[in-house]
Amino acid sequence: MPFTIAIDGPAAAGKGTISKSVSAHFGFAHLDTGLLYRAVGAKVLAGAEPVAAAEALTPEDLKSDTLRTPEVAQAASKVAVIAEVRAALVAFQRAFALRDGGAVLDGRDIGTVICPEADVKLFVTASAEVRAERRFLELSAKGHSDTRADVLADVKARDARDMNRAEAPLKAAEDAVVIDTTDLDIEAAVAQAVQVIEARRSA
Ligand code: DC
Repeated sequence: MPFTIAIDGPAAAGKGTISKSVSAHFGFAHLDTGLLYRAVGAKVLAGAEPVAAAEALTPEDLKSDTLRTPEVAQAASKVAVIAEVRAALVAFQRAFALRDGGAVLDGRDIGTVICPEADVKLFVTASAEVRAERRFLELSAKGHSDTRADVLADVKARDARDMNRAEAPLKAAEDAVVIDTTDLDIEAAVAQAVQVIEARRSA
């Protein structure tokens, strides 16, 4: 039986960690849809044309370990405004969502565009400053030299592009449950998500 959980929100709000924990808790498959856009962005940085790169994407492309850099994140956010790029990635995401045994998809437009019929929709958010601080600590731990100010500027630029684009902009679905992690640690945020999903599963 399919059971689809859509988790959307801005960069570094905690949706990745919540998605991984929730999928492990319920034994569901997990797709980080940002990786699709990152893989296209990485190909564009290497000289490819965005739409052709999206149409030719393979699951292998999602495994590259260069997809987590700030440069690739910005490139992902830029290719994500192109309607044909988004269209090329829809079928794969919808098929994943409907697989037997349950699926968690996290991204920006899962509850609004990709899976408007999802069984559970969560919108995970936090203030830009708190998100930038988390991302700064993550990047510093990996040896990146970006300053706090660089990371905050990056987060704000990506928010503005993701929220203001014409095509599938980042926003909460009307029936999404909002989890604001500004003042929540990750355990508390995961506990809230699990509670919402359990209530929906037994309904
Ligand atoms: O979640 P992330 O930071 O890995 O996403 C990278 C970029 O990809 C993000 O800034 C916007 C785009 N994206 C999107 O437009 N739609 C999605 N469902 C997921 C990501």
